[in-house]
Amino acid sequence: MSGWNEGAVAQTHPLIAQPSHDELVEQLFIRDLKLHVMQTLEPAQKKLAGAIVAQTETSAAPSNDPVGDLRGKMEALDSFRTWLTVKRESQRQLWAAVGDSVERQADQLEALADLPTPLGSVTLDAAFDVPAYIDRGDIHLMPGGNAHDDGSILQGAVMDRGGAVYMLGRNGGMLNDLRGQTAMAHLLTVYPEIEPKRILDMGSGIGTSTVPAAIAFPDAEVHGADVGASMLRYAHARAEHLGARVLFSQQNVEKTNFPDGHFDVVFSCVVLHETSQAAMANILAESHRLLRPGGVAIHLEVPLIHNFGDLWEELSSELEAQFNNEPNWRGALSADYGALMEASGFTDVKVGYQSTAFQARSGPLVFKDTSDGVFRSWFVTSGRA
Ligand SMILES: C[S@@+](CC[C@H](N)C(=O)[O-])C[C@H]1O[C@@H](n2cnc3c(N)ncnc32)[C@H](O)[C@@H]1O
Repeated sequence: MSGWNEGAVAQTHPLIAQPSHDELVEQLFIRDLKLHVMQTLEPAQKKLAGAIVAQTETSAAPSNDPVGDLRGKMEALDSFRTWLTVKRESQRQLWAAVGDSVERQADQLEALADLPTPLGSVTLDAAFDVPAYIDRGDIHLMPGGNAHDDGSILQGAVMDRGGAVYMLGRNGGMLNDLRGQTAMAHLLTVYPEIEPKRILDMGSGIGTSTVPAAIAFPDAEVHGADVGASMLRYAHARAEHLGARVLFSQQNVEKTNFPDGHFDVVFSCVVLHETSQAAMANILAESHRLLRPGGVAIHLEVPLIHNFGDLWEELSSELEAQFNNEPNWRGALSADYGALMEASGFTDVKVGYQSTAFQARSGPLVFKDTSDGVFRSWFVTSGRA
C-alpha cells in the first residue's frame, strides 16, 4: 500500500489528528477503496450507460425523461447497485474512521488549540441562524454537518483530517491547501498589479484555503467567514500553528456584517455547490458589495463543470446530490457564471480553469479555457467590482 505523499515533501501541520498505526491503515484502506470506486468501478458503469444510451437511441422513440429512463435501466443492474453502495459506504466509513481517531485524542487536540498569544482571532455568534441548505442534511455525509457545535474544536478536527483523506491526499497532503494556493495564483495570474490590504475568504471552513492567502499576502488583513462554530475555533488554532494571522468570524456569507467596499479581494473555494440557487446569487452579489471599486472577486469550484446532454453526467450529478448530500451540486456545476457575475455588477468577468498551484507565488500561473482534469486545475470565475 502506498503512503500519502508519493514523492512529495511532507505537507502537514501540528494540529491535525495523528492516527495510530491501525487507524492509519484503516484510513489508507478507505482512500484506496475510494480510488478503486472512482478509477475502476465508475468508468465501468459509464461504459454500461453508454451502451444503454446507444441502444435506446436506435430502438426507441424519444423520451420525455431520458435521465430517468437511463436511471431505471441502470438500477436493474447488480453492478450499478454495488458501485453506488460501495461509493456511499466508503464515504460513511471515512468519517467514522476519522471521527473515532479524533475522539481518542480529543484532550490533546484541545490542549494544542489553547494558544495564549494568538496572532489572529475567532468571533462567534451565539444567535447564529444556520441556513436551511446547511442544516437540511449532513453535507458529504459528515455526521453533524458543517454547522455542528458542541463547544469544542472537534468537528473542525474531523473535517481537517477527513477532508485530506476525502481528497485522497492529492490536494496538498494533510494541508489540503491547493484550492487556496490556486485561487491566489489566479489573482497573481490575471490581476498581478493588485496589492490587497484586506482579503476575505467566504465559506472558509477550517481555513485550508484562507491560510494560503495570508501566506501569499503577509501584509494583508485576512478574514475567513463560515457558519460552523467548531470549524471556526479549529480554523483559528490551525492558522496559528501555521504562523498565519487570520480573523475568523461566524457569518452567513450571503449577507455579512462587513461594510460596503471593505475588501480589495474576496474569494470562495468550493462553497457554491454546498448552498442553493438563491444563495449562490446572494453570495456573488455580496462579494460585489464587499469590494472597493476595482477590487477583485474569485470564486473557485470543482473542475467538473456540467456537460448538458451527456446523460451519464446528468445521472452522476443527480446521484452525487442525492447520495452524498450535495445540496446545490447540479446548480453550481451548470450555472452560467459569466451571466451571474455580470448580473451582480462585475465587469471584465473571466471564466475558465486555473492550473493547480502548489505555492501561489511560484505557480504555475496559467489560466485557460480548458480543464487539465481533477486535481490538475480548478474551475474559476473572477471579475472586478
Ligand atoms: C467544501 S467546504 C470548503 C471550505 C473551504 N473554502 C476550503 O476550500 O477548504 C464549503 C464551506 O462553505 C461553507 N458555507 C456554505 N454556505 C455558507 C454560507 N452561506 N455562509 C458561510 N459559509 C458557508 C460551509 O460551511 C463549508 O465550510
